[in-house]
Amino acid sequence: MKASLIFQSLVGLVMAVPAADSADALVARQSVVTGKYCSPITQLCYNEYTTQGGSTFRVAVSDAAAGTTFDIAVQLLAPAGQGWVGLSFGGSMTYAPLAVGWPNGQSVTGTVRWANGHTMPTVYSGATLKILPDSGTNGTHYMLSAICTGCSSFPRSGSGTKTLNPSGTFRAAWAQNIQRGSVAQPANPASNFNYHQYFNYFDADLGSAKVPAAQFQAAAALA
Ligand SMILES: *[C@@H]1O[C@H](CO)[C@@H](O)[C@H](O)[C@H]1NC(C)=O
Repeated sequence: MKASLIFQSLVGLVMAVPAADSADALVARQSVVTGKYCSPITQLCYNEYTTQGGSTFRVAVSDAAAGTTFDIAVQLLAPAGQGWVGLSFGGSMTYAPLAVGWPNGQSVTGTVRWANGHTMPTVYSGATLKILPDSGTNGTHYMLSAICTGCSSFPRSGSGTKTLNPSGTFRAAWAQNIQRGSVAQPANPASNFNYHQYFNYFDADLGSAKVPAAQFQAAAALA
């Protein structure tokens, strides 16, 4: 029994770290469906992007958002019993804030991470998440609902700063780990977690994701 357990965890490790090529092939056929969603709990309305990985990503900004520093509301949603989901604000895993969420019992843990390479992303001190009360886990899904401060502008590789346009579109990247138990310490926002199985990209339009400033502020006040 012991040998087979060791074998299983080795298999798990290999599956958790697929070659970049096979991961690319896996997601190449995936497309994104767009829509609108309004939270019945916070009343905040989002642009919604649903992937063929069964995950959904939502974004909203205030119509008062301007300049380089503005808050971005996000929802990251995936089937219950899976590992974690993440959203990059820079169109890649590297050199961009990564909002990441995973189930923790009936609740959800959220964190913003950063990676300079294709290695375990560490906690990013340049951004913070306010967790909104529609976050949680039910029989079918887990969802991180949060407002990111610091995700709209960030340093790029080498020098320079990437700044999102609150009235424009940004290239988003997403990642999804579908394996239960792939987050080492689910209650800890700084926990290590295993590699994603799925990832892909979509264009997130902040211009059409704008909501009245009062709606955005009322939702943020629930954090
Ligand atoms: C579970 O939560 C998800 C995400 O909020 C929601 O879409 C779904 O309707 C919920 N399911 C039930 C049974 O409440």
